[in-house]
Amino acid sequence: AEGVYTEKVMDHFANPRNVGEIKDADGVGEVGNAKCGDIMRIYLKVEDNIIKDVKFKTFGCGAAIATSSMVTEMVMGKTLEDALTVTNQAVAEALGGLPPVKMHCSNLAADAMHKAIQDYMKKHAKAE
Ligand code: FES
Repeated sequence: AEGVYTEKVMDHFANPRNVGEIKDADGVGEVGNAKCGDIMRIYLKVEDNIIKDVKFKTFGCGAAIATSSMVTEMVMGKTLEDALTVTNQAVAEALGGLPPVKMHCSNLAADAMHKAIQDYMKKHAKAE
C-alpha cells in the first residue's frame, strides 16, 4: 500500500548495502525472530577496536533487509563501543520510521549487530 514504507526503506530494500558473508569474520551474531521465525546474521571485521567491515545475511522480510542494510551503514567505521549504542529505535528512525506491524522486524538488525560485537569481544578476551 502506498505510504506504508518511507522512501528510505524502499531504497535500502531495493539496493541493500553490505549484503553477504565475511568468511574470516572476527565476530558473528545471529538472532531469530520469535514472531515470524526469520533469521538474521551479521559478520564483522574488527581492527584496532574499529569496525572495518560489516556484512549481513537475512532470511527476513523487506523491512528486515532495509534495517540490516541501514545498520551496516550506521556502524561501519565506528568503534565497538559506539556501535553498541546504536539501538533498534535509532535504526528505525534513520529509515524515517517503520510501520508499527514491522517494528519487530527491525529489532533483528541491531540485536544481531550487538551479538556480533559481543562474539568478537569474547573471542578477543580469550586470545589475550
Ligand atoms: Fe520476519 Fe519481518 S516478517 S523479519
